Amino acid sequence: MSSTDQPSPPPTIRREDYRPPAFLVEQVDLHIALHPTATRVRARLALRRNPDAAGAAAALELDGEALRLLSAVLDGAPLPEDRLGHLPGGGLRIEGVPDAAVLETEVEISPEANSELSGLYLSGGNYVTQCEAEGFRRITYFPDRPDVMARYTTTLEADRAACPVLLSNGNPDGAGELPDGRHWARWVDPHPKPSYLFAVVAGDLVAVRDSFTTRSGREVALAIYVRRGDEDACGHAMDSLKRSMRWDEETYGLEYDLDVFNIAAVSDFNMGAMENKGLNVFNTKYILARPETATDMDYEGIETVVAHEYFHNWTGNRVTCRDWFQLSLKEGLTVFRDQHFSADQGSAAVKRLADVRRLRAAQFPEDAGPMAHPVRPDSYVEINNFYTATVYQKGAEVVRMMRALIGAENFRRGMDLYIARHDNQAVTIEDFVRAMQDASGTDLSRFSRWYAQAGTPELRVREAFADGRYTLTLAQSTPPTPGQPEKLPVPVPVAMGLIGPEGAEVAEPRLLLLEEAEQDFVFEGLAAKPVPSLLRGFSAPVKLSGLTLEQLGFLAAHDTDAFVRWESSQQYATATMLAMVEALRSQEPKAERAVHASGDAAFSGRTLELPEGLAAITGALLGRALEDPAFAAEALALPSEEFIADQMTIADPEAIHAVRQFLRGALGRRFAARFAALHETLADAGPYRTDGAAIGRRALRNAALAYLGAAGETGRAEAQFAGATNMTDSLAALRVLVDSDSPAREQALAAFHARWKEEPLVLDKWFTLQAMSPRTDAAAAEALSRHPDFDLRNPNRVRSLVGAFAAGNPAAFHAASGEGYRFLADMVIALDAVNTQVAARMVSPLGHWKRQDAARGARMRAELERIAARPGLSKGTYEKVSKSLAA
Ligand code: TRP
Ligand code: ZN
Repeated sequence: MSSTDQPSPPPTIRREDYRPPAFLVEQVDLHIALHPTATRVRARLALRRNPDAAGAAAALELDGEALRLLSAVLDGAPLPEDRLGHLPGGGLRIEGVPDAAVLETEVEISPEANSELSGLYLSGGNYVTQCEAEGFRRITYFPDRPDVMARYTTTLEADRAACPVLLSNGNPDGAGELPDGRHWARWVDPHPKPSYLFAVVAGDLVAVRDSFTTRSGREVALAIYVRRGDEDACGHAMDSLKRSMRWDEETYGLEYDLDVFNIAAVSDFNMGAMENKGLNVFNTKYILARPETATDMDYEGIETVVAHEYFHNWTGNRVTCRDWFQLSLKEGLTVFRDQHFSADQGSAAVKRLADVRRLRAAQFPEDAGPMAHPVRPDSYVEINNFYTATVYQKGAEVVRMMRALIGAENFRRGMDLYIARHDNQAVTIEDFVRAMQDASGTDLSRFSRWYAQAGTPELRVREAFADGRYTLTLAQSTPPTPGQPEKLPVPVPVAMGLIGPEGAEVAEPRLLLLEEAEQDFVFEGLAAKPVPSLLRGFSAPVKLSGLTLEQLGFLAAHDTDAFVRWESSQQYATATMLAMVEALRSQEPKAERAVHASGDAAFSGRTLELPEGLAAITGALLGRALEDPAFAAEALALPSEEFIADQMTIADPEAIHAVRQFLRGALGRRFAARFAALHETLADAGPYRTDGAAIGRRALRNAALAYLGAAGETGRAEAQFAGATNMTDSLAALRVLVDSDSPAREQALAAFHARWKEEPLVLDKWFTLQAMSPRTDAAAAEALSRHPDFDLRNPNRVRSLVGAFAAGNPAAFHAASGEGYRFLADMVIALDAVNTQVAARMVSPLGHWKRQDAARGARMRAELERIAARPGLSKGTYEKVSKSLAA
């Protein structure tokens, strides 16, 4: 607060304002005496003036937040209070520090009071830290910025009974007993690292151990630390870790660089996992898996996230970011690496579909909304708001395109060069692009626009055919985004082929490069007009339009590229659904609308009809379904309501919901016999397995079950729910029941709760299923938030109810009454006092008010205003709310 008591808006940090730090830290020695409410942290920092910084006499600036300073000593002399300048966020400024100096501080902090889950906190009675992005300043005074890389030693001290396990980064370096039942352990990390990679885990955890021999013959001790009783649930994570370690050696020649690699799993965690050097900390969701408690999707998530965090050891840790604007340097690259790894473990084509579906579900809307930002942002208020789908997923797409442009071999050479040049440095995205450019000899300056320009490029196709000559015209444009009204063309790699009328390839597959706003590509010597198969493998993160329904249907049946087959069937369904939505909108007065969850043909009394073209595509897919069950399951799924809404200028959540529910029911009825047959044929024989083939069979079988359920046939779901021996089948059956009006619904929900009430990760699923069900309205969601098992302090639980409702139940969230919006805003307000990072994330669905009609838009803005008016709002939530209102 300023002196006039007017809260001033929090400052905006700009990329162009980057200045090197005045001081570097060469060595950090920490002594941490753990206590739930009064942990003591002693830090000894060996400081050296930065030769690259301007201002030879600049002061030493240390970040600090929620610390109680007990003492500060510079070169052996206590610093009097008047030497300590106080910085706005809680930091310190010390003038007159010599060019080389030693600063010793002692602070007290309270892990128990830390509900923010940033810094040192307690989870299930165990101590855990989270320092990315700016949590280390909540542990000790420090220049908490990634371009300050230091060597760390950490000595931990705690009560032996409460904390038999004491872990930190690096290699273990001694342990021993202390008086009064306490003990200590020391860790030495030989690799310089930024403070955001610091970690401590301490408590009553048990280790599941294994080992890995690197290709140069070094033995690495592996351990996963979990709560007693969860030891049997670590096998998949451990196996994923060893496969990741091998893959990085084989694919990039990158070997692990410490004697130990530890993972600790905790229940209270703001995100998925964290790549702290030698001590990864994971959300239990991405470690624990048993067939009875984890779904196939959970198994896949574990493999991906374990790989992701492991791969950060080189892309992020050994080579790190100069500042947080460079976040995609490590995240985009590491997501690209984990996607590539997972693709190599099973069906690459199916993995790609899933990745594209995710990109479109999360990143395209972000690019079209009020928080749109480039992969390398230009400014932020709260950096935690920029751990986004754009930085992660679009960042990965940009790396993938670069690889397509320069070729796999040059890309590998570029990676080698990047690491050789920048090992132990904090660098920028330009440094990465330069390494790729130098290794390949390809000029990537224009390509760098992908990092600087926000928004999803839109490609339009035109065609001409005469005398055997086929001309493909591709035009691109990118809609304006906040702060970037004008857009330049970006180089778009378009992997493509041409399909002749008989369904065969009639030209060599090619990679076209669309660099200008519009370009012609000419193909000679064709007997007949071909159908273009474009963006194979989704070679660029763009939207494509201009093909006819007929062409899409043809490609869905004939293309040799699995991605284009899937994409064409999705685009066909999208166009069909949009036409049906339009028909409903134009014919019916809004007041008479009634959405029937059963999807049974009713929208203010009108009967919808199943379009025969869509039925034909579905029939053809079903005919070939057993050839590739995983692919068939993906292709049979109708585009989501959210995806359809994203294709409309002004969405109509009720009409979209009615159309999709109708189609699910109508397709279920039309193909009931074939769905029933698939459900029989694909029943699991033999032992439960989680390989790609087994997962694909369950996915297709449960897709069939869902179509039957949509058609009102819930008997199979009841039987499957009663007899299921794995969570994938159990949950799929329960979902059908929860979405139905079957009398078995309530009983099944109660039985599931009774059986799993002691398993938090399974209870999350119980909340999510209900939150996303069309039978759950805002009042029912609100009632769930008062359930004794709901807990605002646990991020997984908040996401499982509030996040799932707002992002996964569009009909209820966008109820015309505005109740859905009010529920979300109430939750954001309550959360902001507990965990600001999670609160700010929950604001996003309210930001998309421009896509809704005027009445809904006004209600959404009113809720944003109500949040904005709260005194003491966190800067993260403030940033999301104010940008949502301004756009
Ligand atoms: N760097 C982590 C990852 O991508 C994610 C992360 C960022 C994170 N900030 C966090 C995790 C805060 C937990 C809490 O893997
Ligand atoms: Zn990451």
